[in-house]
Amino acid sequence: MELSAAMPSPSTESAPTERADARGVLEAHGALARRYRQVRERTERLLAPLSSEDCQVQSMPDASPAKWHAAHTSWFFETFVLAPRLAGYRAFDASYAYLFNSYYDSVGPRVARDRRGLLTRPALAEVLRYREHVDRHVARLCAEAELPPELCDVLEVGLNHEEQHQELFLTDLKHALAQNPREPAYAPAPEGPRGPRAPRAPAAPLAFVPYAGGLVEIGHAGAGFAFDNERPRHRVFLEPFELASRAVTNAEFLEFVRAGGYAEPRLWLSDGWAERERGGWSAPLYWREQDGEWSSFTLAGRRPLDPTEPVVHVSYYEAEAYAAWAGARLPTEAEWEHAASGVAPDGHFQDSGRYHPAPAAHDPSGRPAALFGDVWEWTASAYAAYPGFEPWRGSLGEYNGKFMANQMVLRGGSCASPAGHLRASYRNFFHPHARWQFSGVRLAR
Ligand SMILES: [Fe+2]
Repeated sequence: MELSAAMPSPSTESAPTERADARGVLEAHGALARRYRQVRERTERLLAPLSSEDCQVQSMPDASPAKWHAAHTSWFFETFVLAPRLAGYRAFDASYAYLFNSYYDSVGPRVARDRRGLLTRPALAEVLRYREHVDRHVARLCAEAELPPELCDVLEVGLNHEEQHQELFLTDLKHALAQNPREPAYAPAPEGPRGPRAPRAPAAPLAFVPYAGGLVEIGHAGAGFAFDNERPRHRVFLEPFELASRAVTNAEFLEFVRAGGYAEPRLWLSDGWAERERGGWSAPLYWREQDGEWSSFTLAGRRPLDPTEPVVHVSYYEAEAYAAWAGARLPTEAEWEHAASGVAPDGHFQDSGRYHPAPAAHDPSGRPAALFGDVWEWTASAYAAYPGFEPWRGSLGEYNGKFMANQMVLRGGSCASPAGHLRASYRNFFHPHARWQFSGVRLAR
């Protein structure tokens, strides 16, 4: 399997002399091996609070069991790294190629996506042994002095892939737990200023930050990992625009609900209105009203709706209808990236252990606050190839490019994204009816 020459090559960043070259290569391998262990251990920490029954359930076709995520991320390393590159490697179990392939048609057939919850065998303990087996062999590979740069690149893809699945693990698990009448918590919310019992300041007033527009550049450039769909960097013309200083809050979205926003077809796209009818939507996913009080289900259990937090678990259609009601619109992905360029991608991510968006603090610089983390922000942009897009070569070309139809781009990351996984050029994408991701709304005009 070959990857695009545009991919980063950690082991090519070596010093000029031969000896320094060798040391640089070994250090790069060491850094990659350490990062590999950190990412893999994070998956196992996420699994730790769950029973094997929790790990088995599949609540809908879009959501996969936790056990499947744990196995599939290992299958990825086995298929794209170990099998082609480690001499004498023997698969842990030949049937796993069929059980844990996700969507790689060029690799082979697989269990249908909506039947992953039926895989009661292998048991969770066996999947954990599979993970150990893969880890042991990747460690052996990383100990080799001659690790070709393109192999380091594929390992880095595998690590970013596993980070994406760590977020999906949480969103899929949340959906599964929400189906249980007892609405069990995954993890107690942390204490402290970001905990649910911390005193609430009112959300910063909504302001709009102006941008002059003009000819700007978007897309990934330079060193560091990026997915193929973020390239190439290219020029885009933007009209002058304004971007909201923060995401829409629960209090603001509740006004839309109370004003009859879900019952007013003139606010909705035709497909959105149909989805609303099909799904019986009257509020964001996981919201519930009882005796005039609203609550929402979180990974720490159900709790009263916090008016200051960003609204989360809305589809593109709901985001779009809200924007129409508010006299605004959603930003395009080029506008969003232009506003986010030069902003450090730090924010409130998975690592906080809160697994729920937090109220946005005012950004003293006057720039839009909390562009990264908390909630993915729906954009008005259809997910499509950038001019000059080249998918990665080989089977990994199926990673992103083949999904470039009928989905919308989201930007910025969420409270379920691992810290360090994101950047301004990062493009997430989901179908416009999807609500189970940590997706919210930032307005533009
Ligand atoms: Fe995957």
